[in-house]
Amino acid sequence: MYSPENIRKYFPILDSEVNQHKLVYLDNAATTQKHQSVIDTVSQFYEKENSNIHRGVHYLSQLSTNKFEQTRESVKNFINAQHTHEVIFTKGTTDSINLLAFSYSKILKKGDEVIVSEMEHHSNLVPWQMCCDYSQATLKVIPITNSGELDMSFFKKELSKKTKLVALTHISNSLGTINPIEKIIELTHQTDAKILIDGAQAAAHAKLDVQKLDVDFYCFSAHKLYGPTGVGVLYGKEKLLNMLPPYQGGGEMIKDVSIHKTTYAELPHKFEAGTPNIAGVIAFKKAIDFIEEIGVENMKEHEDILLNYATLKLEEIPNLSIIGTAPKKSGIISFVVSGIHHYDLGLILDKLGVAIRTGHHCTQPVMKKMNVSGTSRISFACYNTKTELDYTVDCIKKAIKMLS
Ligand code: ALA
Repeated sequence: MYSPENIRKYFPILDSEVNQHKLVYLDNAATTQKHQSVIDTVSQFYEKENSNIHRGVHYLSQLSTNKFEQTRESVKNFINAQHTHEVIFTKGTTDSINLLAFSYSKILKKGDEVIVSEMEHHSNLVPWQMCCDYSQATLKVIPITNSGELDMSFFKKELSKKTKLVALTHISNSLGTINPIEKIIELTHQTDAKILIDGAQAAAHAKLDVQKLDVDFYCFSAHKLYGPTGVGVLYGKEKLLNMLPPYQGGGEMIKDVSIHKTTYAELPHKFEAGTPNIAGVIAFKKAIDFIEEIGVENMKEHEDILLNYATLKLEEIPNLSIIGTAPKKSGIISFVVSGIHHYDLGLILDKLGVAIRTGHHCTQPVMKKMNVSGTSRISFACYNTKTELDYTVDCIKKAIKMLS
């Protein structure tokens, strides 16, 4: 039986008080809280195991290397990749996308096209603008509808022989829309184009199987999966990763270096220059173990219940409008209240112990499309409860009264 109360026991921060109120943490789309086993693993690493990886013959280096590589194996199983070396560790989703965009900027040319959407987080838009700038390729943008869904007819129309890459989000961080990525991948592959899915908001809320999806590239961050910050994943099909030039040069990514020429290491090391966040990667395994123990589908089911419950309660509040009303949504609700600035609302909620995000959520084109300067956003995780939502809705009503 799914019990958020039991799960909460493993998240020490959820017991804290903020501004003399029990913390209600509803900013999970920005980052999730950390499981006790993740916290313990980070401190154990620095207390007892600290050493660099892939470099030493000594005991600690081998221990760290083994644990680091065990996480790669866990990620491979978590997303059902075919090969462990298809999992590249990065600093986060933004870093994963920049890696790919940089590498693609070296192989695209004038006349080629990249397709993104109006729904993208800036981190899946700006790198592609830069990539197209450098390579002289053309960036095409799928518009979104008033409910916050992709305009699929535009997508179908724009896909062509010229399309080399499609880069789309799995779940919108500001609207909560779940995109039909299975269909999008299938359509993309009817051409020669490749596809990247930005899974930053999805990996903790949807069962992933990259082989079944047949996705070419998929990326996400550990910190949105109850793991540490500063750790991300870029999954890519072996053949494609081998075809791409490396992103950063430095130690670890080389096979042989002479003063004028370097040959590169095999996957995954070719894309992992420099010393990574070793403690973070090792602790990330604990977060994956936790998700697998509870089951991502069970977490999703619980979050869907919270989503429906909160949506109905918020809809009852006069002058409050939900921004993003797609039929298929994940546990994210953005809203505006007429006559009240989202920032003021967020400040009052904070005084009452409720953590939400306000602003444009790094999606300025979405805000423009929806004709708002920003929104208040609540986002759920596996440990949130209906009691927290009741309290939050009461606080929102109180804040509206104070600000009206
Ligand atoms: N991308 C994160 C968010 O949407 C930080 O809040």
